Amino acid sequence: MATHDGVNCTRRDFLRIAGSVALLMASPGQAVFAASPPGRAPLKIATIGSGRIGGTLGTLWVQAGHPVMFSSRHPEQLKEMVDSLGPLARAGTVEEAIAFADVVLLAVPYRAMPQIGKDHGRALAAKALVLDATNPIPRRDGEIANWAREKGAGLASAELLPGVRIVRAFNAIGYARLPEIAKRQGDPVGMPMAGDDANANALASGLVREIGFEPVVIGPLAMGKHLLPRTPLAGVRTPEEIRKIAATLD
Ligand SMILES: NC(=O)c1ccc[n+]([C@@H]2O[C@H](COP(=O)([O-])OP(=O)(O)OC[C@H]3O[C@@H](n4cnc5c(N)ncnc54)[C@H](OP(=O)(O)O)[C@@H]3O)[C@@H](O)[C@H]2O)c1
Repeated sequence: MATHDGVNCTRRDFLRIAGSVALLMASPGQAVFAASPPGRAPLKIATIGSGRIGGTLGTLWVQAGHPVMFSSRHPEQLKEMVDSLGPLARAGTVEEAIAFADVVLLAVPYRAMPQIGKDHGRALAAKALVLDATNPIPRRDGEIANWAREKGAGLASAELLPGVRIVRAFNAIGYARLPEIAKRQGDPVGMPMAGDDANANALASGLVREIGFEPVVIGPLAMGKHLLPRTPLAGVRTPEEIRKIAATLD
């Protein structure tokens, strides 16, 4: 039985998700883009924010064989997108998507994070993994972004979402690059990530690998302050470059 801040996963949920971790970890370096390999347990994924980055990542995970609920405050506006993605994709409210999912992707403007924490923090703390692709951008998000940057983006998200198993990832690469990287052959592209929970890091690594990236956990969530646009780790980099750069950061 996994417990976390007083919120329990059921034993069945835990075993299913643990099985997914093992299976995802069992295919290093392999982008599972065209279809799920037989026997792999799919993970139910929710995207909170289904715009550029949430819509793109959710689409790639649908194409990798995972059921995804894309959420919006206006889910009817997502109908065309989910219809085009087939039966694994559906649309819902934020609340419905969180209830549906094993794993949640946060892909909203940072100014939305305090409200998401207030409204959904407890439900998010019951998840095995919450991927945080959000970035505090002062000109877009206002004062909360200054606060988050001073604290460090990872620790700020943890304060807004207490007890949540957060892994920062996908923060410093433009959404438009993701589909081409998911399909490409050849040298691996690294995905810098930061998180405190070993199981959440493993689960996130599997999902990252499935859409064509080699996961590189650069350290605990406190290192998430380095995962922002226009920082040394931003852009398309090899895993080795990411490791070298990360070694110079504290
Ligand atoms: N664009 C990129 O290439 C990129 C790359 C890495 C990281 N990021 C980061 O990812 C986040 C999203 O960026 P984006 O470019 O994808 O933005 P976007 O295209 O504007 O999409 C943002 C989404 O957030 C949802 N949203 C806004 N406020 C919300 C709230 N209070 N509750 C629930 N959902 C809310 C919106 O959905 P509704 O209005 O339909 O509810 C919208 O679908 C940002 O923090 C950004 O810095 C972006």
